[in-house]
Amino acid sequence: MIPLASGASSRVCRLPGERVVKIFHAAVSDEMIAREFTAATLAAEGGVPTARPLREDMIEGARAILYPEVQGPTLMRQMRARPLQSDALLRDMALLHRQIHGCAAPSLRSLKQVLATDISYGPAEPVVQDAALALLQELPEGESLLHGDFHISNILLSAEGPIAIDWSKAAHGAATADVLRSEMLLRFGEGPQDWLTNHARDWAARRYMTHYRRCAGEPLSLEPQWRAVVALAWLRARGPVRQRAFTAYLHRALAAVGLPLPVVTSR
Ligand SMILES: Nc1ncnc2c1ncn2[C@@H]1O[C@H](COP(=O)(O)OP(=O)(O)OP(=O)(O)O)[C@@H](O)[C@H]1O
Ligand SMILES: [Mg+2]
Repeated sequence: MIPLASGASSRVCRLPGERVVKIFHAAVSDEMIAREFTAATLAAEGGVPTARPLREDMIEGARAILYPEVQGPTLMRQMRARPLQSDALLRDMALLHRQIHGCAAPSLRSLKQVLATDISYGPAEPVVQDAALALLQELPEGESLLHGDFHISNILLSAEGPIAIDWSKAAHGAATADVLRSEMLLRFGEGPQDWLTNHARDWAARRYMTHYRRCAGEPLSLEPQWRAVVALAWLRARGPVRQRAFTAYLHRALAAVGLPLPVVTSR
């Protein structure tokens, strides 16, 4: 087994026969692994370019999923190596995301429920939580397949085009929420946060949104409302990346829909 990558929840190794194995760390729940398997299979059945899981397995006592190997760099690596291609890559990312949202996924967990839990267990004061939960309650359930963690390290660039991987945070729900999560991941997700990169990240997020809106052919439905609840829910699990910029973004998002602003934004 040749190690390919190691992350917060797993390590990925190359196997003979153009396969890879994703070996999960012990702290990852069975539910999350099952969700990754189910959602990736569902996406593949819906015609989404993805690595379709081959089978679950145990490797040296750890739970694992076998996948076909996708040959090619992550979108992140490609954008860094070829910055002039970035806009075209972000357009391809938006097209792929749109395709994902064209699939239905009623069997997956509800994003609205995930957001409600994250808001309730997050650090914001009860008055902020209650107002946000009341707003969330009024938003439509939605039935699209949502990736849940659609960022530029979870897209591989194969010779045939971009491939979506890493479905462990998938759900069903409103596409707008998933698009806004990608916007926030581009701006404030894990990764470098020096001055120049931050400008590139904000630019990439704006371009990604423009491309998604264009290929959808209509404005994002209930965008300000979803932005407020998705940003507030993220407080529960966010890493300390671009804290001040994220807090400013969160405050604008909440103010735009008349929600009170949290004083406490981390534990
Ligand atoms: N099917 C595949 N073919 C080739 N490389 C892969 C494949 N799946 C994963 N990889 C490599 O492993 C890396 C990590 O995979 P993945 O995103 O699924 O796990 P992870 O990031 O550890 O999960 P999490 O984001 O939950 O921590 C990818 O960025 C990619 O470089
Ligand atoms: Mg990943």
